[in-house]
Amino acid sequence: MAEIGTDLLKAKTFLEHGELVAIPTETVYGLAGNALNTSAVAKIFSVKDRPWFDPIIVHVPDLEHAKSYVQEIPEQAILLAKHFWPGPLTLLLNRQSIIPDLVTSGLSTVGIRCPNHSITRDLLKSLSFPLAAPSANPFGYISPTRPEHVNEQLGNKISYILDGGVCSIGIESTIVGFENNHPMVYRLGGLTVESIEALVGKVSVQLHVSSDPTAPGQMKSHYAPTKKVILGILPDLLKKYNPNNAGVLSFQVDYKMKYQFILAPSGKIDEAAQNLFIGLRLLDKMPVDIILAEMAPEIGLGRAINDRLIRSAAE
Ligand code: TXA
Ligand code: MG
Repeated sequence: MAEIGTDLLKAKTFLEHGELVAIPTETVYGLAGNALNTSAVAKIFSVKDRPWFDPIIVHVPDLEHAKSYVQEIPEQAILLAKHFWPGPLTLLLNRQSIIPDLVTSGLSTVGIRCPNHSITRDLLKSLSFPLAAPSANPFGYISPTRPEHVNEQLGNKISYILDGGVCSIGIESTIVGFENNHPMVYRLGGLTVESIEALVGKVSVQLHVSSDPTAPGQMKSHYAPTKKVILGILPDLLKKYNPNNAGVLSFQVDYKMKYQFILAPSGKIDEAAQNLFIGLRLLDKMPVDIILAEMAPEIGLGRAINDRLIRSAAE
């Protein structure tokens, strides 16, 4: 098992030696390595068992640092970064050649983000290189939002997990790219479309729902527990399936089932987002054959929650 701790110097030393360290962010835990070191980046792919065609996000302490790795930044991107960084926003920007091909799977853009977590920002500021970091889970499985989640799945493959407690947002960053200087949302995430639109006006949402290796971005099946997830209206699902073999993931209602997890007892959508991956993990470990789940209201973070639920249920 990996050591879980808050020793920044230890984390820094591993990273400087080309080793990987799991790091907390406000969204999910990341599996981090030196983004400028091809062999460290190759380790990320191998530890996660991630296909080479799926590019990795690069993490920087602030906008000034981002400028060293990308070409001219569109005005709208500057506006978004100034407003939402540090925070759950990844910008797809044209990369400079210092960013290895491996990081971007050969694409001309690199995903850049400045995470909002104090211990990880301190770490980033102490390093002379940015950190490539995908979510710290085996490819296709549920993202980790606590250090123990990382340890359960990758603990035998890495040495150190920087402990930042439970992730405050609980769902990955929103990915925004630019076409003719116009922002496009490619992944729904912790920053709502509504907040982006309040700043830059109407944006289009273009989710790549594909298993096509030439269209890196979003896989149709992802965030998936080992048990089959079935989405629908819970009272109907509970009539159709035997509740003794089913885990129930409800938004707010207590269905009084033996195996259940309520995402948001308060009814608040940010509570549901923070609990989503925690709930899916818990239900996955229960003695059930299937997980029955209902969607969240389709507004704000609810859209990102529903995106994850749909992918977790995809074949
Ligand atoms: O919140 C997050 O974004 C977390 C934390 C650790 O920062 N990271 C994360 O990374 O979710 P990952 O690798 O699990 O998801 C990144 C997504 C992938 O779907 C990848 O294909 C897409 O971002 N991506 C990365 N760079 C890209 C690029 N240049 N063009 C298109 N998609 C890109
Ligand atoms: Mg991921």
